[in-house]
Amino acid sequence: MKKHFLNHLRIITVAEDSVTYGSDLWGQHGISFFLEATNESSTQNIIFDVGQNYQALKHNMDVLGINVQKIDAVVLSHSHRDHTTGLVPLLQDVGKTNVPIIAHPDIFHSSFIIEPSLKYAGMRERKDLIGLNEGRFILTSDPLSILPGLSTSGEIPRITDFEDPGLALYMIRNGKLVQDKVFDDMSLVANVRGKGIIILTGCSHAGVVNIVKQALTLFPGAPLEGIVGGFHLVDASRDKINKVIDALTEFHPQWISAGHCTGFEAQMALVEKFGSRFTPLHSGSIFDIQSQ
Ligand SMILES: [Fe+2]
Ligand SMILES: [Fe+2]
Repeated sequence: MKKHFLNHLRIITVAEDSVTYGSDLWGQHGISFFLEATNESSTQNIIFDVGQNYQALKHNMDVLGINVQKIDAVVLSHSHRDHTTGLVPLLQDVGKTNVPIIAHPDIFHSSFIIEPSLKYAGMRERKDLIGLNEGRFILTSDPLSILPGLSTSGEIPRITDFEDPGLALYMIRNGKLVQDKVFDDMSLVANVRGKGIIILTGCSHAGVVNIVKQALTLFPGAPLEGIVGGFHLVDASRDKINKVIDALTEFHPQWISAGHCTGFEAQMALVEKFGSRFTPLHSGSIFDIQSQ
């Protein structure tokens, strides 16, 4: 089988909950990454999630020197508002026709919490307005190649017995109230020549260990280089955090950068286990992965 690689991947964190001391950037509860992915024949500029506040996202892109009109495609990790709100004004600023919006087919399902009281938690952006602003949905639960060496994960098989979505969410299926296990949760997976696999997660509601297992199937034989995003361990027990981190060590990642919904306790446990190979994620964190 022909191996697919990127020559270069640059990841710029344009939305995250925190900023570093003295930064001109803005934080928001949400996540968004701008990616420049280059292989031998072309470069694609992708935005992975859009946070929930477009004003803060645009401010950060301006400060970081990112031209929003360069965006070739949007990938959405899952429906939650802190990853998808602001898509319509973003598309207005992108100003191109037929911008692909890549997501899972369940992205528009009604997701809500019941405790402490009923609250809608799903996608807030209207599908018709996205369409009017030239967003064109490509909704699939299969892995989708964006360019050779960069793919969505597709729907993540739930394999581990110690991971769960991390939130008590509900949805309606065939008129019945059922648990929402966030099957729309997808990641982005890159394979950089001579380095290995880089995984970008939104909230990891599918479980970050399950996500790594799926990512490794997309580029068989490639080592795990890095993982960046939210791990949704913010409300997890110490026992669950330990199980997740022990499982991650088995994959021998060169580096991990996690923030957003990861939670302070899990970040501390990641520092304990990975030392300087772990960094907390911030607005403005940049990862430059060059082929070797
Ligand atoms: Fe989130
Ligand atoms: Fe989420």
